[in-house]
Amino acid sequence: MNQLIDALATQGYYIWDDFLTPTEVAALRDCIPEDWKNARIGRNDETSREETIRSDKIQWLSSSMGNPVGQFLDKMEQIRLEANRHFYLGLFEYEAHFAKYEKGDFYQKHLDCFKGNENRRLTTVFYMNEQWDESDAGELVVYDLDDNHIATIPPKSGRLFVFLSEQFPHEVLPTNAERFSIAGWFRINGVKDNQLDIAR
Ligand code: OGA
Ligand code: MN
Repeated sequence: MNQLIDALATQGYYIWDDFLTPTEVAALRDCIPEDWKNARIGRNDETSREETIRSDKIQWLSSSMGNPVGQFLDKMEQIRLEANRHFYLGLFEYEAHFAKYEKGDFYQKHLDCFKGNENRRLTTVFYMNEQWDESDAGELVVYDLDDNHIATIPPKSGRLFVFLSEQFPHEVLPTNAERFSIAGWFRINGVKDNQLDIAR
């Protein structure tokens, strides 16, 4: 946790390898229900299906999916509290989805705090690809706001990537093999059209 906090302070992102053990990852994967939905861009009423931008399928996490999901969410809660304690970010809640990329699927370069998602401050991406090989591709490529290349991150099992949502455009390169991840966002609270903006 200290390394995460230090890295966020100095570079704005952190690659946390072996965040979960292979056994924990397997248990988490076993919790994913079969019922995948096409991913959408934006939140609430503003969502639109954009196959040209992203082609993965998603499912929102809930602790009712099983203990491993509950334990994952508990770990995210620890990160939320530590980040708030050190950076006064005012992170208010966490929303996350499983994502499944099948062969050929991708997500073009984007920022996570686009229209309808302005409240996202800190992003987490967790990978669950036990046998990932270089030929499988599907790497996450990360840039800074001046479009300089920052990192190319293989989606290796057990790896958690954490970054400031507003600072790093990123893309998922087309994958050659089925690819599972959990993308999540810590949000600050916001008011929208005189309504409190609670996730979904
Ligand atoms: C996202 C995203 C990255 C990944 O869902 O916004 O950027 O590697 N996902 O799954
Ligand atoms: Mn993203």
